[in-house]
Amino acid sequence: MKVTILGAGGIAHAHAQAIQGLAGHEGLEGVELTHVVDIDPARAEEFATKHSVPHHGTDLQSVLGSGEVDVLHVCTPPSLHLAQAQAALRAGVHVVVEKPAVLSLAEVDALAAAEQEAADGARFTQIVQHRFGAGALRLRRLLADGTLGRPLVATCDTLWFRPPEYFEVPWRGRFDTEGGGPTMGHGIHQFDLLLSVLGPWVEVRAMAGRLARHVDTEDVSMAVVRFADGTMASVTNSLLSPRETSVLRFDTEAATVELEHLYGYDDSAWTVTPARGREDVAERWAAETAAVTDGGASGHLAQLVPTYRALAAGQAPPVTVADARGTLELAAAIYKSAFTGAPVVAGEIAPGDPFYASMAGTGAPWPAVKDVAAEEAAR
Ligand SMILES: NC(=O)c1ccc[n+]([C@@H]2O[C@H](COP(=O)([O-])OP(=O)(O)OC[C@H]3O[C@@H](n4cnc5c(N)ncnc54)[C@H](O)[C@@H]3O)[C@@H](O)[C@H]2O)c1
Repeated sequence: MKVTILGAGGIAHAHAQAIQGLAGHEGLEGVELTHVVDIDPARAEEFATKHSVPHHGTDLQSVLGSGEVDVLHVCTPPSLHLAQAQAALRAGVHVVVEKPAVLSLAEVDALAAAEQEAADGARFTQIVQHRFGAGALRLRRLLADGTLGRPLVATCDTLWFRPPEYFEVPWRGRFDTEGGGPTMGHGIHQFDLLLSVLGPWVEVRAMAGRLARHVDTEDVSMAVVRFADGTMASVTNSLLSPRETSVLRFDTEAATVELEHLYGYDDSAWTVTPARGREDVAERWAAETAAVTDGGASGHLAQLVPTYRALAAGQAPPVTVADARGTLELAAAIYKSAFTGAPVVAGEIAPGDPFYASMAGTGAPWPAVKDVAAEEAAR
């Protein structure tokens, strides 16, 4: 399979390393990174040199039309993802899109339609690399087979720090280009993992604030979420937290399972505390951890191995457009509840709802940066 990376910025390097790592895995020996495309020719060239990519350029359409690409990795700013993914699917090229897949529920529904109509059975998938570490796979397995009993309580904290300079990149901190703040761009990693473990949610109540950064979006949001099975979870998404950490905690009938990491984890980041009399759970977790040979790391390679195996076999990838939609729907519900002050139930954000078209919905309850600047200039 021939692979092209589109967008040669920060995260594209993780894609290059992971794509080039695929060839060491059984059945994927023929995967080859052949092209890199960036609107900035110097950046494309520098990236090609650094990762020994044979071809580089600035024109996506000519690469898609060349018949020399089977899979396109979209690593551009979020507002470009929909049109670029649609172009790939139209050309019969599988597309692996960075998070957030697109900016809104309206866009994800357009993406689903594009996949339905795609040439040559081309598929869409999205990067959500934290679903794929060994600990996450084990947690889902031990819940599914009943070992952990019912989940009851969960916490999901993305407590990160981004200084003011981080927002100088023009597409950051704006609903129209980044989709949202830490809810859409950062905490989404953690609550995507939460959803992959706990399944569908039914109700959300949330608050958001823009407390300390010069942005249009929130810089912190907090939500309480009730899941379909009754589990109750709290979700915090912050870019204002000097001691950074990402923490998920699941209290089930049989144990507390905790993950603490920052931007990626391995098996050493997980702890299991059994309920009294359920030491068997900790023993099973330890035995399964000991059996893992590669440390159990999350990351792009961990996701791309099963993804490329599925694509090579003509099967659906492990993360589908429905999964991407589920995570975006929770993000939209957090914004809607935070901006309207009302609880939001699953399924209510439908076409015609302002929060279907944009995460900003009816508008953040704080003035936009440009309005503040205009006010200051008028004074
Ligand atoms: N999975 C993760 O852990 C992770 C981490 C960081 C970023 N991301 C996501 O990856 C995406 C890119 O983020 P980044 O930090 O790498 O951004 P970036 O700004 O560093 O890089 C984006 C690149 O896209 C190029 N580009 C812009 N418009 C283009 C166009 N029309 N055609 C081709 N190239 C174009 C830019 O020149 C730039 O090189 C975002 O969606 C972001 O949310 C994911």
